[in-house]
Parts: sequence; structure tokens; C-alpha cells
Amino acid sequence: MSATATLLQPTPREQLTPAIGLRFEREFQLKDVLALPEGDERKQATFEELAYLISLHGVCAFPAQDLSPEDLEKLAYALGRASGAPADSDLHIHPTAALGEDGRPKVGNISNKADEGGRQINFKDERSELASQGIHTDISFERRPARYSMLRMHTLPPTGGDTLFYSSYSHYDKLSAPMKAMLSGLSARHSGAMFRHQAQRHGFDLHLGPRGAPENVDDSFEASHPIIRTNAVTGYHALFVNQCFTDRIEGVTFDESRALLEYLFRLQAQAHDAQVRYRWSEGDLCIWDNSAALHCATFDYDEERSGDRTVFVGETPRFDAEHGRSRKEALKTLV
Ligand SMILES: [Fe+2]
Repeated sequence: MSATATLLQPTPREQLTPAIGLRFEREFQLKDVLALPEGDERKQATFEELAYLISLHGVCAFPAQDLSPEDLEKLAYALGRASGAPADSDLHIHPTAALGEDGRPKVGNISNKADEGGRQINFKDERSELASQGIHTDISFERRPARYSMLRMHTLPPTGGDTLFYSSYSHYDKLSAPMKAMLSGLSARHSGAMFRHQAQRHGFDLHLGPRGAPENVDDSFEASHPIIRTNAVTGYHALFVNQCFTDRIEGVTFDESRALLEYLFRLQAQAHDAQVRYRWSEGDLCIWDNSAALHCATFDYDEERSGDRTVFVGETPRFDAEHGRSRKEALKTLV
């Protein structure tokens, strides 16, 4: 990281839990960083520090941010680049999303009310009553999945609609040494085949790519990723499976895969010391690193809940046995 002073350094912040989550004070406005002229060293240094803090804490919350969808797009590029994402990484275009009029990806509108030409479907009839069934990392069915996702909430119900975040560093650290060793040598299949079914059922075309990286093309919506993924920014190991997209551990029997995944998904859902529940206020922006954290929305409201979302694609996931390490072990050596 750069030694240049950043706009973050005097800003008060609060760690939300020991495992995950950092919230800044509302006086810190990301718009002020975006407004710095290109070439101002503080701009790059601030984005680098922000990228590191987001990857370190899994999710960072920035209350009451004055940011337009265009600002969010600029922010996504700036943070993605500052985090060292590959040069060909771009904003992700979801397979079910419509493109902008210029044919480019656009900042998505997450809403329970909006309907973008029939593509944004209310899947209530496909939703489990067990809210934790929705825990996921964004777009892990892609060969090059997400690094940072950003959501700025602009319309909220009077109560409800919280988002839960889960530390995948902590999930790794909760595994025993023999389990870590076994899973570190295995990969799992992630599938977004449900999008093909949804498109057929509701009669819309899927976006076949590229979706934020040259590898993210075609309609297989399937990828194989290491189960233990080393975060490219912090070097910490993280458990990288999720019950929305991961359907098979490769190289073991069907029954072994099912039993192992069942345990890992239970660990993610039930280890509440690895979770934080974020209660939104209008204008709040959360940015999370999908290789450090999972998340889950809470559908406990009827009124409108809408926000702007961007997803920036990262690197091909990898397990780095040589340089990677446990977050828990790393923190021990710091004190
Ligand atoms: Fe998501």
C-alpha cells in the first residue's frame, strides 16, 4: 500500500463484529474521493486503502452517501483497479439483466417492485421460508466471479430488509487442520443453470457475454473453483462454497459431496459469531468482497425496497498454498 496520506485516515470507523464488518461515519463521503483530480496521489492511495479494508473486513458500510448510479460505476472501476484486479476485469452483466441503451453494462436496480422489461422477476414461489437458504456469493457460477459488489439503498421499507453478511475467512478458520488439508486439495462445481430455466419459463433472452471478463461467456453458467480460495488482496484463506450455486464437490463420491456440502452450508448458516446483520438507512452504501464474505437478503417486508448495485469481476479463483494464510493466525502475529 502507498505511504501517501489518504482521505480515510482521520475518519472515525466502527468494527461491527470481531469477524466481519466495518462502518465509517457519514462525514466520510466517497464523492469527495471521486472528485479528486486524476493524478492526485491521495486519490489512488485512498482507493487502495479502501480496497484493503473492504477485503480485510469482508464488508464496509458507508452511511448516507450522495452517489448517483454513474458515481457507483466510477467507484467500481476505481476500487477494482486499486485492488489489483486483472486489467480485463469489468463490470459484470448478469445473464438475466438488460443492457443499457449504449449496449454497455449498466448499474443494476435491485428492487422488489421494479420490472425491467419482464426480466426482474419476483421469484416468491421459488423462495424457501428458511431465510438462510439465500446465502451466497455473487455470480460464483462464472469462471471469473465477482470481487467487489456494491449496493446503495435508496428506498426502504419502514422496517425490515436487512442484509446479513458472513465471514468466509472465519468459516475457514473454524475447520480442523485435517479438514482444511483435505478441502484445500479439492474443487467444487458452481452452477447457475436456474437462469436458463427462468428465461425459458418467463420468455426472455439471456445475456451470453462476455459478462465482465473474456472467460465469462456462453450459457453453461457453470464453473469449477477451489473450495479454499485465497483472497488476492489480503492473502487470507476463505471457504468458497455457497448453497445457491455450489452443487458438487469434484473428485469425491456423490454421497461424500452431499455430506460435506451439507456440513459446510450448515457452518455458514449457523455460526452466528461469523455473521453481521446490517440494518440499512436510506443512502447507505455497502461494499463487500465476495472472496471474503457471503451475504443474504431478508425478505420480511411488503413495501418497496430498491437500490443501485454494481458487481466488478475479479481474478480466476485460486488456492495459494505458498503465500496464503489463515486470518486468525495472521491476526495472532500482529498482537
Ligand atoms: Fe447477491
